[in-house]
Amino acid sequence: MATATQAIAIDENISQFVAKPRPMLINGKWVSAASGKTFPTYNPATGEVLAQVAEGDKEDIDRAVAAARAAFDKGPWRDMTPSQRGRLMWKLADLLEKHAEKFAQLESLDQGKPITLARIADIPTSIDQLRYYAGWATKVEGNTIPISAHGGKFLAYTLREPVGVVGQIIPWNFPMIMATLKLGPALATGCTVVLKPAEQTPLTALMLGELIQEVGFPDGVVNIVPGYGETAGAALAAHPKVDKIAFTGSTEVGKLIVRAATGNLKKVSLELGGKSPNIVLQDAEIDSAIPGAANAIFFNQGQVCCAGSRLYIQDKEFDKVVDGVSQLASKIRIGPGLEPTSQMGPLVSEEQLQRVCGYLESGYSEGAKATVGGSREGDKGYFVKPTVLVNTNEKMKVVREEIFGPVVTAMPFKDLDELIAKANDTEYGLAAAVWTRDIKKAHRIAGELRAGTVWINCYGVLDSAMPFGGYKQSGWGREMGHEMLNLYTEVKSVCTPIS
Ligand code: NAI
Ligand code: MG
Repeated sequence: MATATQAIAIDENISQFVAKPRPMLINGKWVSAASGKTFPTYNPATGEVLAQVAEGDKEDIDRAVAAARAAFDKGPWRDMTPSQRGRLMWKLADLLEKHAEKFAQLESLDQGKPITLARIADIPTSIDQLRYYAGWATKVEGNTIPISAHGGKFLAYTLREPVGVVGQIIPWNFPMIMATLKLGPALATGCTVVLKPAEQTPLTALMLGELIQEVGFPDGVVNIVPGYGETAGAALAAHPKVDKIAFTGSTEVGKLIVRAATGNLKKVSLELGGKSPNIVLQDAEIDSAIPGAANAIFFNQGQVCCAGSRLYIQDKEFDKVVDGVSQLASKIRIGPGLEPTSQMGPLVSEEQLQRVCGYLESGYSEGAKATVGGSREGDKGYFVKPTVLVNTNEKMKVVREEIFGPVVTAMPFKDLDELIAKANDTEYGLAAAVWTRDIKKAHRIAGELRAGTVWINCYGVLDSAMPFGGYKQSGWGREMGHEMLNLYTEVKSVCTPIS
């Protein structure tokens, strides 16, 4: 680990926030779990308990769903104009901006990520998402439909109505971004929400709940119930009074959500895992492709659903790109999130540390070699060195499965047809990238890759206005952009004779 530097001074409000057990938000009130139980959340840089949090379970989910149901079925949320809803959301964004530093610190403490990253990426992105979706509140439109049936003298139009009570289950890699990405479209379309943050990182969502209260959303519109997946999450997914579940997390749990949803056939949208190919052709601008490939996998400790975890490099440039990425990896400063010089923090949990180290062992046992990194860093906290694996092929577990850590597998290829077959040889289809100066090849490859997002000569560019989601087992539906309407609204056709 780089020599320890001074950690930033923690905001006094945060010290107070983590000092007492954090309650959950149900029907506009901060309450304890019905069972009275709490669970710990840890500081991943030290492995020490950071705070205790109310442990939601089935009974709490029942209370929260009842509150969300009442807020959806009766006023005052229902009676608000789209403009009033949009204004509340915009105010929430402004308030979050005012408290941005506090949120960045808490995110870094609970999740582990470098404070610099939380400051320039996570919190500004959350603010931008809230503003983007605030704008949508007044733009949810239907169509007028030309009718030919029965002689055609009809007026027909469609309405887009909120889908209803939405259960939102989110992961720990970008806790605030996930929360605002889920809350934004639900509130813009007039839905009400029960949000279950990940058990590893519940704190910033709870602090956001305080701002939601301060802004003055009506009671029950946003309920936040922290708890474990197998209990609180499962109860929400199965709940008969929930109209839709929006889930981001593992493909394994995505399948459980789908099964749990069959009881009342609630709508389901899923944003799941990935094993995204990042492709460097020999005619690429190699000096951009190298840092691009490093950033594609090492950003956020590699805990990114669309991370560029399979690096395909055309023969001629293989050694140069692998050396370049390895050199950049060797220079990354690893350290606790709250030290401003840290460029890479710890993984989120002991469980993820074990998982990622397990993948490294599996890679070595199948013949893979690390050109850089290759193991845990230190023995305190959950740090893993940024790692490039070579001697890998499509049969290996490290190439087939999502590692979700700072580990990239680099593989050479000769011709484009061989490459496309390999790139698509995965059960996932979340994202992909290609680096080349040849625009014909770039767009041909973009067309042939089975992935929800394809980047050309860049990686990881995401925007509230650009749809995001997966082919194959990477998910169902597209979040962000206009596409969110398909996830959060029901379409109603209204038809009447006019002669
Ligand atoms: P997970 O899928 O178990 O957790 C995500 C969310 O689902 C959490 O809020 C959790 O409490 C909830 N959950 C868990 N079991 C549930 C159930 N039976 N019913 C309802 N909700 C449930 O992911 P986990 O175990 O934290 O990480 C395992 C792997 O999943 C990672 O190594 C990574 O490969 C993948 N992952 C993918 C993410 C993505 O952004 N697509 C995010 C987090 C993890
Ligand atoms: Mg899990």
